[in-house]
Order: sequence, then structure tokens, then C-alpha cells
Amino acid sequence: MILKTIDDLNLEGKKVLLRCDFNIPFDLQGKVLDSTKINRHKITIDELIQKGSKTIILSHLGRPKGSFQDKLSLNKVLKVFAEKIKVSEVTVMPFCKPNILKTVINDVSNGSITFMENIRFHPEEEKNDSDFAKQLAECADYFINDAFSVSHRRHVSTYGLSKYLPTFVGRYLEIELKILDKIFNNLNKPVMAIIGGAKISTKITLLHNLLKKVDKLVVGGAMANTFLVAQGYNLGKSLVEEGKVDLAKKIIDQAKEENCELILPDDLVIAKSINELSSIESIDIKDMKKDFSAFDLGNRTIEKISNEMASCRTIFWNGPLGLYEQAPFDNSTNVIGRTAAILTKSKLITSVIGGGDTVAALNKSDLTGGFSFVSIAGGALVEWLEGKVLPGLEFLSSHK
Ligand code: ADP
Ligand code: 3PG
Ligand code: MG
Repeated sequence: MILKTIDDLNLEGKKVLLRCDFNIPFDLQGKVLDSTKINRHKITIDELIQKGSKTIILSHLGRPKGSFQDKLSLNKVLKVFAEKIKVSEVTVMPFCKPNILKTVINDVSNGSITFMENIRFHPEEEKNDSDFAKQLAECADYFINDAFSVSHRRHVSTYGLSKYLPTFVGRYLEIELKILDKIFNNLNKPVMAIIGGAKISTKITLLHNLLKKVDKLVVGGAMANTFLVAQGYNLGKSLVEEGKVDLAKKIIDQAKEENCELILPDDLVIAKSINELSSIESIDIKDMKKDFSAFDLGNRTIEKISNEMASCRTIFWNGPLGLYEQAPFDNSTNVIGRTAAILTKSKLITSVIGGGDTVAALNKSDLTGGFSFVSIAGGALVEWLEGKVLPGLEFLSSHK
């Protein structure tokens, strides 16, 4: 793949729409939990500032589903942004139509940053509405995609804009693609994928293809609950996506056909709620209690995953294995993280972790330094692993 980098672009005074992923995790009190995503985009943003472009940052935060929600305003990330990125002029747009941005951007200085409000407040964004894409494109000279982690979405700010503007790969996206390609082109087998987290409906549909690519597939986190229900267990009040139970059954059958070893939990850590820590119990899955929820994997499961991991040469991991924001439900993520880091350090495995929450969870326990590569992409990394051409990268092979 030939990357269209920003190497030869004259950016002085040019208006640039820059897609970043500032969808950062917050703790249960609403404080920023992890700013890795901002740190990663810094290399691109600093270069654009230094080269004198009028940079318009586009990002989403959460899933507001096409309407304004104060709690998902990008204002929530501005303080951390200001701590990381030194720039003399920042303009923060209110939630408004692109024609207002078009006027405002004429008056800002070269080397400035302008923030669009959460792009997903616009219902047109996720529909990849071509009129909206055209209006937004009229605000700029170039579109630069720096967000590998959102490139699996066929949205205006990841895909649609590339139809109307000369499009380039941002510095961070460039780094991420080069490293991932290198690992993938020299893949050491057996390969294990670990999929956890809570974005069940979007990630479960990816497992069909993923299990064709890997030798062992571990399903943990809230994702595992739906599989355990598919196996006939009662999961009490745990987070379960009822509409996906049949799909989970099919994936269990398909794993057998494809000779992929599917590893599901045998035991769980449960509680009445995350605020009732005195109710915590460790149980075998067949002993699940009806008024309880599963918030983490149990010790037998942790040991099983660690042993299986030690028999592999490459691991890809997306999704925390428990509700890591609240101790002690971060235990399985920490222990498995430590095992992976030790195996990586001893050169026994190559390890790639990805996902905003996965990185936050492992940063919290100071483990991210122990992996071969830490990507900020979650779902996108999984789709990329499947071998798909991500919509946000199609411009590299097709239109201008
Ligand atoms: P990533 O951002 O790494 O791609 P996700 O966004 O899919 O990961 O999922 C992260 C979320 O999953 C976290 O907020 C975590 O609390 C949640 N989670 C993991 N396990 C459980 C569980 N058993 N019950 C409820 N939530 C869980
Ligand atoms: C992520 O956190 O994985 C990215 O920001 C993409 O978010 P999405 O799954 O809501 O598209
Ligand atoms: Mg997440």
C-alpha cells in the first residue's frame, strides 16, 4: 500500500480538516481517565501548527446518535488538549452547521487550531450524507485522516470527505499503519486474539471472520456474557445482548468447523452492583446468582488464558476483560496484562493491544510499556486483522 503522506504538502495558510480520535475514556466520576489518544495525534497536530496550516479538528466523543448531548461535548477534552499541545490560537466552535465554520475559518491565523463540536451530533455524519460532506469540504483545502481507530466507520469525517478533497494520511496514522503492516507481514503462529469490552453488538459481528485468521480466540469482558447465555447459562443481571445470543451460538459452532480454539470463562467474579463491593463472590459459571452481575473473570479462567497465551507466538488483544474502572474488577485485565508483558519481554510472544479502554486499563497498572505495540484502535484493529480494507483508508487505493 502506498501511503499518501503529508511529506510534500505546502501547508502554509492552507485550511485542513484533520480527523482525530478524541473519543477518550472517562472514569466513573467523569474525569479523564487516559489521554493516550491525544498524545498519539500530537505528532500530526504539532507539524500542522508548525507548518502554518489552519487546522480544523474533527472528532467524535461517544455515541450521541445524531443529536446534541452536553455530556458528550468535546469541551470535555479541551483541558487535556491544552496541557499537551502548545498553540497560540484555539477557536472552539459551538454546535453549528458547516457554513458557519466556513466563515469563521477565513479569519483565524495560520498555525491555529479550530475545534468542530462532536461530529456525531450531526445526524448526517454516520449516514455518510453527501451534501453534508460537500458542505464540510467547502471549508478546507485538504482532508487529513489521522484516526486509524475510526477508519472502520464509513462516515463523513472518515470516508465521505475523501470524495471531495485531496486526502492524505496523518503522521500518526502513517506510523500505526507501518508498524501494524510489519507485524502482520511477519506473523508468528500460533496466533491468539483476545476480545473483551462492552461494545458487544459491533464487535460480535467481527468474530466470524476473525476466527478464520487466528488459532485461539479468547472472549472475555461483557462480551463473554452473551456467549455464556448462548451455552445455556443464566447470567443474572449481567450485561447481555439478548439479540446477539443466536449469533454467539453460530460463532461457537463455526469455531469448531474452522478449528479455532474458542476460550470462554469457566468462572466469574460477581457482585450485586459495582457499588456493593461487600457482595463480591467468585463463582463457577453454573452457580451464577440471579440478582448478581458478572464484572470480571475468575482465577481459573485467568490461569487458563495465561497458559494458552504461553503456547502462542503472537497475541492481539482488544477489550478489557472486566469492568476495569472499578477495582477489584480490573484484576483479570491486570493479571493477563502482566503475563503478556512478561512473555513479550522474554521474546516469547509478539503482543499488540488496542482500544481506548484497553490502553487506559493497562496504563492504569503501568503495563503498556511491556507490549510490542500499543494501538489506540479497538474495533478498527479487529476489522483490519480480518483483512478488510477499512473505509477510511479506501482513498489510498481508489478515488482522489
Ligand atoms: P475498547 O475501548 O478497548 O475497544 P470497549 O469500549 O469495547 O473497549 O469496552 C470497554 C468497556 O467494557 C469498559 O467500560 C469496561 O468497564 C466494560 N466491561 C468490561 N467487562 C465488563 C463486564 N463484565 N460488565 C460490564 N462492563 C464491562
Ligand atoms: C473507539 O473508541 O474504538 C473509536 O473511537 C471508535 O468509536 P466507535 O466504536 O463509537 O465508532
Ligand atoms: Mg471503548
